[in-house]
Amino acid sequence: MPSLEDGEMFLPSTPGKFKDKSITMHRQFYRCFASTSTMFLWALFLVALTAAYLSFQSFVDSGSRYFSTAWGGIQWEKQVRASAQIRRHNGVSVLVTGAAGFVGSHVSLALKKRGDGVVGLDNFNSYYDPSLKRDRRNLLSSQNIFVVEGDINDARMLAKLFEIVAFTHLMHLAAQAGVRYAMENPQSYVHSNIAGLVTLLEACKTADPQPAVVWASSSSVYGLNEKAPFSESDRTDRPASLYAATKKAGEEITHTYNHIYGLSITGLRFFTVYGPWGRPDMAYFSFTRNILQGKPITIYKGKNHVDLARDFTYIDDIVKGCIGSLDSAKKSTGSGGKKRAAAQYRIFNLGNTSPVTVPMMVGILEKQLKVKAKKHMLEMPGNGDVPFTHANISSARKEFGYKPTTDLQTGLRKFVRWYLSYYGYDHGKSVK
Ligand SMILES: NC(=O)c1ccc[n+]([C@@H]2O[C@H](COP(=O)([O-])OP(=O)(O)OC[C@H]3O[C@@H](n4cnc5c(N)ncnc54)[C@H](O)[C@@H]3O)[C@@H](O)[C@H]2O)c1
Ligand SMILES: *[C@@H]1O[C@H](CO)[C@@H](O)[C@H](O)[C@H]1NC(C)=O
Repeated sequence: MPSLEDGEMFLPSTPGKFKDKSITMHRQFYRCFASTSTMFLWALFLVALTAAYLSFQSFVDSGSRYFSTAWGGIQWEKQVRASAQIRRHNGVSVLVTGAAGFVGSHVSLALKKRGDGVVGLDNFNSYYDPSLKRDRRNLLSSQNIFVVEGDINDARMLAKLFEIVAFTHLMHLAAQAGVRYAMENPQSYVHSNIAGLVTLLEACKTADPQPAVVWASSSSVYGLNEKAPFSESDRTDRPASLYAATKKAGEEITHTYNHIYGLSITGLRFFTVYGPWGRPDMAYFSFTRNILQGKPITIYKGKNHVDLARDFTYIDDIVKGCIGSLDSAKKSTGSGGKKRAAAQYRIFNLGNTSPVTVPMMVGILEKQLKVKAKKHMLEMPGNGDVPFTHANISSARKEFGYKPTTDLQTGLRKFVRWYLSYYGYDHGKSVK
């Protein structure tokens, strides 16, 4: 295809030696026509520009509403207030982000059950099947927990929430999770785990009173660490994935808000959480689905054919860790955007302390599903997974008596029971 630089269309008309009148007239007519059409094009261009400007203006005007139109109004405020109501002596009121997620839904239910006020927040993104998130939300609403549909990047919505309710705590569990997906969609990690975190902390710093913040970091911050078990004081400056890097960044960012504004911060490094209502993108979950559907599963092996191992932690134990952190958190010390005194900053591992290899985990699933898995063994590609994780939890034990009690066999039995009741044994099998 010729480019415009070929110039055929824009060569200046060089007057020739022979001046034929009819040709000149024709040219003049042609020029006149050309200029009219040029004007017409300019007019068209201006109209288009104005239209574009106006639509951009209205986009800006609608401001944060671009994130969601699902918040605001008297009815909405009423639902938020009712959900935040505390129903026990010395209870707390907690804003739970990621409440339609796996951990967030469990934590919300546990808090509500003991009489605390809970308001959920989730953007119901489609990283995995949003209908699972909607079903978790329905479960929460059956217990009178309202989940606001919105994005943690929506500063106006957050300001409104803190204006309506004097939250004592923020339980921040919203995030872009998953290690491998970071290579497909890196920006989603920056959006939720970095930009969103900052927007939330800004809202907390401004809120009066400031809430105490408990949030989910990840065991992935240990990255290329080889010393086992992982202790909180171990190196965390060698992340193996962008996910891990954004969680590590979160630990530093929260430290800044602790230091400058007096926000009380507790960061929790979860170790491979599993259980009922879990995340379909995680291995134990997708293995279960594939085994039941007769599809092969891929099991990665580490260097020298070493089995990968994870410190699988049952959801109820994680919930206990989250609530223990919340109950032992000191108050934030700032107000009006200024720190009055040094505030608490803590980081805890929340794991199970007994790593299990992936083939052993598959063996447990096979036994409980009564189906043999079709296994594909593959060398682990360098895509962000680490060979093993193992938590040292003595710090959380000392601080608030954290003590996991569910082993993988028991926990997977509960997961499988839930899976079969939710999806049925034939889920997806007979679909042509
Ligand atoms: N499950 C694990 O094994 C594990 C391990 C380590 C750390 N974590 C961390 O624990 C937290 C909870 O994890 P999970 O397993 O429940 O994941 P999840 O994906 O089930 O829950 C996260 C929820 O946050 C929501 N969300 C994401 N971005 C949002 C945004 N910008 N605004 C509003 N909502 C948003 C999602 O819709 C989702 O419902 C996350 O921070 C995760 O990184 C989980
Ligand atoms: C576990 O962590 C504690 C600090 O919380 C440390 O004193 C202890 O030595 C660690 N244990 C191991 C086995 O690394």
